[in-house]
Order: sequence, then structure tokens, then C-alpha cells
Amino acid sequence: MRFNAATLLSVLPTLWPCASARPSSSTRGTLQPRSASTGPYACSASSIPNPELFGAEITSLTAHEVHNYSTTGEAYAAGGVARNYTGLEFCQVNITYTHPGANDSVHVQVWLPLSGWNQRFLGTGGGGFTTGTMAPALAPAIANGYSAASTDGGHGIGVSASTWALLSLGNVDLHLLVDFASRSLHDMTVLGKAVTESFYGTAPQYSYWNGCSTGGRQGLMEAQRYANDYDGILATAPAINWHKFVTAEIWPQVVMHELGVYPDQCEFNAITAAAIEACDPLDGVTDSIIAATGLCNFDPHTLVGQPFTCDTDGTQRTYSSAAATIALETWNGAHTDNGTRLWYGLAPGSPLNGLANTNRTSNGTSYGVPFVISDEWIRLFVVKDPAFSTTNLTTAAFESIFRQSVQEYASIIGTDDPDLSAFRDAGGKMITWHGLADPLIPPNGTVDYYDRVVATDPEVMDYYRVFLAPGVGHCSGGPGPYPENALGALVDWVEQGVAPEELAATSPAVNGTVARRPLCPYPLVARWDGVGDWTEASSYECAASFV
Ligand SMILES: *[C@@H]1O[C@H](CO)[C@@H](O)[C@H](O)[C@H]1NC(C)=O
Ligand SMILES: *[C@@H]1O[C@H](CO)[C@@H](O)[C@H](O)[C@H]1NC(C)=O
Ligand SMILES: *[C@@H]1O[C@H](CO)[C@@H](O)[C@H](O)[C@H]1NC(C)=O
Ligand SMILES: *[C@@H]1O[C@H](CO)[C@@H](O)[C@H](O)[C@H]1NC(C)=O
Ligand SMILES: *[C@@H]1O[C@H](CO)[C@@H](O)[C@H](O)[C@H]1NC(C)=O
Ligand SMILES: *[C@@H]1O[C@H](CO)[C@@H](O)[C@H](O)[C@H]1NC(C)=O
Ligand SMILES: *[C@@H]1O[C@H](CO)[C@@H](O)[C@H](O)[C@H]1NC(C)=O
Ligand SMILES: *[C@@H]1O[C@H](CO)[C@@H](O)[C@H](O)[C@H]1NC(C)=O
Ligand SMILES: *[C@@H]1O[C@H](CO)[C@@H](O)[C@H](O)[C@H]1NC(C)=O
Ligand SMILES: *[C@@H]1O[C@H](CO)[C@@H](O)[C@H](O)[C@H]1NC(C)=O
Repeated sequence: MRFNAATLLSVLPTLWPCASARPSSSTRGTLQPRSASTGPYACSASSIPNPELFGAEITSLTAHEVHNYSTTGEAYAAGGVARNYTGLEFCQVNITYTHPGANDSVHVQVWLPLSGWNQRFLGTGGGGFTTGTMAPALAPAIANGYSAASTDGGHGIGVSASTWALLSLGNVDLHLLVDFASRSLHDMTVLGKAVTESFYGTAPQYSYWNGCSTGGRQGLMEAQRYANDYDGILATAPAINWHKFVTAEIWPQVVMHELGVYPDQCEFNAITAAAIEACDPLDGVTDSIIAATGLCNFDPHTLVGQPFTCDTDGTQRTYSSAAATIALETWNGAHTDNGTRLWYGLAPGSPLNGLANTNRTSNGTSYGVPFVISDEWIRLFVVKDPAFSTTNLTTAAFESIFRQSVQEYASIIGTDDPDLSAFRDAGGKMITWHGLADPLIPPNGTVDYYDRVVATDPEVMDYYRVFLAPGVGHCSGGPGPYPENALGALVDWVEQGVAPEELAATSPAVNGTVARRPLCPYPLVARWDGVGDWTEASSYECAASFV
């Protein structure tokens, strides 16, 4: 079924009748092998020739069988809960290569199931400043029958960029930044597909991307720059708009510095709880989750002077005006002195301890704790001085850093080009979902991007859909309903032509009860029917508004 997103974005007069079309999750056996290939296959460097890779020189390729392997997989790859994978049997291929002249050394691993390959290839992404995580991303993939690849982007595996960002004071290693931002992901895809074909003797029938956060940004980068790499892309909570949002993540720290006040985290926790209490019912369902974030106009200044219990030490305290201002600024997002928005803030109800983090020294002096990715981005890539402090930025200094980040890095790592026509024309399909209680990446950046894609192509719903997930945190976590099998929905779209009219989602159990609810393609929202059990998915339908 096709529908025009531009029309929906204005006003949808009738309900979207998706409840009747809801496929039962039991029929969605999409991750089963479609026709599993059988071995044995030769897992040795001599049987896997060095792939061709434009612009690169392969310096080593090794291969060996790995038996009975166990590791913990990424939570987002398994319905939001980190899972242990055991008994994995695969051929591990390691490739090291360089881009001559760039003096880099990039490591790629390709994991190939020894049996039960589902004839699909999966490219996996990273998080923070990690280009790829290797085992935690690869294990869930091969456990589901995919051959899969991960890359270290030439800078190793670690969330921090401090080991590689600067060649010297003032000089960013731009080659490694480009590897992290884009180049090494395309390389990995070319290598992963070629090794898969050499090993099984047949090319993958379909190729998919799965990543969250930095991995979500990398997925959108692939759609924007390398439209033929993937048939299907799952780009979750994407760190797109990197040049803007990562810089703007420091905003709550700027506000605290300007006020000279660093409230304890328990005051922010209490404000978050008060916001949830005030705005939870706006969608018609009282479930401790704010679904109607856009309708939430709660002003924490109404709390000032009232008592609250500090949840970390049990003391009775009084809400301060400073904490109210900081919370509101974190929700409203970074702006110039004259009020022009520079970037979006977090939705009310999201934990504030990621971006408005504080602590106290042993003598009781409170101080701000900037979010590490934002702090490193500003210090290492924008100011290019590891000794720079992001804890005492004025609004004027922040504004100038924001502008500098946009000027220098938009084209390298912005990943916000709304023109997806090449991906569309290649037949690609893409799904993004983003938690509305994400404490690190404002979901409105994803909404902003999608609105801009819609503006370039009103038929975007034919190949790209975004789902907002109320009460879900960054990639996982939070009390909200988590998509059960977004990758499966993508596979169905690519291989069966079944476009996802909703994503089935389940919340973590509260006192033994789980709640199920559909996630709807933006701009639709899950509207409760007003009578049914609010924990049952059948009590909701996708509609233009909550009421
Ligand atoms: C690939 O690299 C990893 C990490 O260095 C190592 O543990 C593994 O043994 C290597 N595998 C092969 C086939 O070289
Ligand atoms: C596989 O590894 C597990 C530990 O993870 C061990 O208990 C088991 O005996 C191993 N199985 C074989 C066949 O080696
Ligand atoms: C995974 O294994 C680790 C240690 O091997 C254990 O601490 C953890 O609880 C396990 N996680 C799950 C989800 O089973
Ligand atoms: C290349 O990188 C190595 C470290 O990986 C460094 O020791 C060497 O000086 C670099 N060479 C050039 C020409 O930059
Ligand atoms: C943020 O996104 C929500 C959900 O789509 C929307 O209701 C709200 O208006 C957006 N806010 C801004 C400032 O764009
Ligand atoms: C605020 O300043 C910016 C330039 O920094 C300007 O483009 C914008 O129009 C101003 N807005 C208002 C409301 O004065
Ligand atoms: C907060 O400060 C204490 C010492 O006062 C320290 O032990 C702790 O690690 C700090 N926590 C964070 C998150 O920085
Ligand atoms: C507490 O420690 C901080 C830094 O650790 C110092 O700047 C401040 O003067 C100390 N305050 C008191 C009252 O000792
Ligand atoms: C505050 O920032 C200035 C530069 O803007 C720097 O010189 C100073 O050392 C910083 N102060 C602290 C306490 O980090
Ligand atoms: C869960 O059970 C506890 C203890 O019975 C109760 O205090 C709490 O309110 C319950 N939570 C919900 C959401 O029902």
C-alpha cells in the first residue's frame, strides 16, 4: 500500500486502518534461513583470494575456523536486551589494508556461519567514536544466519577518540576521520560481500545494514553516498546531523556555567518524574511514558519552592529555579543569545543525566560533567587542543564553536543529505526508529531530517519510514515498548514487498506484566481506542493524532 507522506504531514482526516492489516508476529519468521546453504566450505587464506578494493592495498588476509564461541551481543540487535550467544561456529576472516598515502591501517573482520547461511550479508556499525564493535555486533548476526562484517575504521575499538583524533596539536587526522565517517564502511561492505562469495561460492542474495547511534548514522551515510551497497538499511537512533547535534550536546553544561550552579542529579531526576507525571496522560494512556512529547508544555519553574525527596540520599529538598532553567534549556535545545534555535533539545521525560550531568568533589563542591563524545568532539576536532576545557564555555564561546563545527565538518560527517533518490532508484528500503526518551540524541533531529526527505520526495514512504518509540532510551533501555524485530520487518519489506505499516513493540515487564503496542510510521502515532486493555497492541491504531 502506498501513501503520500506530504499529505499525512499536513492533516490526515481519517484513521490509518493499520490494525486490521497487522501481521501476527508468529508469521514473521523472517530471520529463518530462506534456503540454507550447506557446507563444508574451505576456511583458509589460500581458498579466499584478496578482494579487489578501489583505492586500497590489502596487506594481510587470514582465515580460520572458530568453534563453540560465546560472547555477549549488542542489546539493539536482540529486541533491546543484551543476550549471550553460545556455541557459535564460523569461519573468521581478518583483513588488514591501507589507503596508500593516508598512512592508515584498517582492520576488517568477516564472520561466516559454517552451516545454515541464510544467503544474506549484514554490514554492522559502531557507537560513539567506534567505527565497528566486532564481536558484539557480529555474534547476533551470525546467530541469525547472516554472514557479517565489522571494521575498526583504522583507529581501533574504543568509544574515545583521544588516541587518534590529533596528529599533533592543532592538526586533526583527517584521513582517520574520513575512515570513521564514511570510507571504511563502504570498504568493509565491498570486502564483506567479496569474502562471502569466495567462501560460499555464491554471492549473497541480499545485503542489509544494521546499526544504532553511530551505526545509525553510518546506515544513512550508506544510503546517501553508496546507494548500491545495501538492499535494506536499519538505521536506528541515527547520529546524523553530527556536526550540529554533537556540538549542541554541550549546551546544558554551558547553561550551568552561565548560571554558576551545578544541581545534584537527584533534583533533575525529580524534575523528570514531575514532567512524566504531568505529560504522561496527554496521549490518553497513563502508563508512566510520555508519548505525546510534542504536546508536553510542562514548565519546571512551576515546581520551584516545592519539596522533593532526593532519590540518591533520601533527604528532603526544595526545587531550585536554576535546576528548572537548566532542565527547560535542555528540552528546548541550544540557541543563540537572541533566541534563534541552533539545535533541538531532548524530549521532556528523557533522563537528564547524560547531557546535564554533575558531580561533587569529596569536599562537596559541585561541578559539571560534560558528555564524553561531545566533550571530545569540541576539544579534539573543533578546538584541536586536548587541554581545552568544555566546562566553562560562555554562550558566546559556544556559539562560535558551533559555527566552526558546521563550517569544517558538515560535508565530512554531517550525514544529513535529504536526497535519497539514488538509493530509491537502486530499489533500496530503509527503516529508522528512534526512542523518544533518548537522553543523548534528540529525536527531533531525526524528525527534522525525515521532514526534509519528504520535502524532496513526497513518495518517500515507498522506501523509507521512520518510527518514533515512546519511552525508549538510546538504542535500548527505558520503560517504553521496544521494536521486537525491526530487522525482520525490513527483510519482509525488501524480499516480500511488505511495507511496515507498524512495528510490533513490547515493553520491559513491570511487576510481571509486559505491554504491547504498535509503533507507527511518522507522522502517525499509536492512538489508544479508549476502551481496550492498554497493555494490548490490539487496543491501538495508527492515527494522525492522539485524540
Ligand atoms: C582476527 O583478529 C582477532 C583480533 O585480533 C583475533 O583474535 C583472531 O584470532 C583473528 N583471526 C584470524 C583468522 O586471524
Ligand atoms: C562449549 O563451550 C561451553 C562453555 O561456553 C562448554 O561448557 C562446552 O563444554 C563446550 N562444548 C564443546 C563441545 O566443547
Ligand atoms: C551473560 O554472561 C555473563 C557472564 O558470562 C553474565 O554475567 C550475564 O549475566 C549473562 N547475560 C545474560 C543476559 O544472560
Ligand atoms: C604513519 O603512522 C605511523 C603510526 O601508525 C607513524 O609512526 C608514522 O610516523 C606515520 N608516517 C607518516 C609518514 O606520517
Ligand atoms: C519534535 O518532535 C515531536 C514528535 O514528532 C513533535 O511533536 C514536535 O513538534 C517536535 N518539536 C520541534 C521543536 O520540532
Ligand atoms: C538572531 O541572530 C541571527 C544571526 O546571528 C539572525 O540571523 C536572526 O535573524 C536573529 N533573530 C532575531 C529574532 O533577531
Ligand atoms: C563523582 O565523584 C566521586 C568522588 O567524589 C567519584 O568517586 C565518582 O567516580 C564521580 N562520578 C562520576 C560519574 O564522575
Ligand atoms: C574543594 O575542592 C575544589 C577542587 O577540588 C577546590 O577548588 C575548592 O576550593 C575546595 N573547597 C573547599 C571549601 O575546600
Ligand atoms: C576556562 O576556559 C579558559 C579558556 O576559555 C581556560 O583558559 C581556563 O583554563 C578554563 N578554566 C578551567 C577551570 O578549566
Ligand atoms: C509493582 O509492585 C509494587 C509492589 O507490589 C508496587 O509498589 C508498584 O506500585 C507496582 N508497580 C506498578 C507499575 O504497578
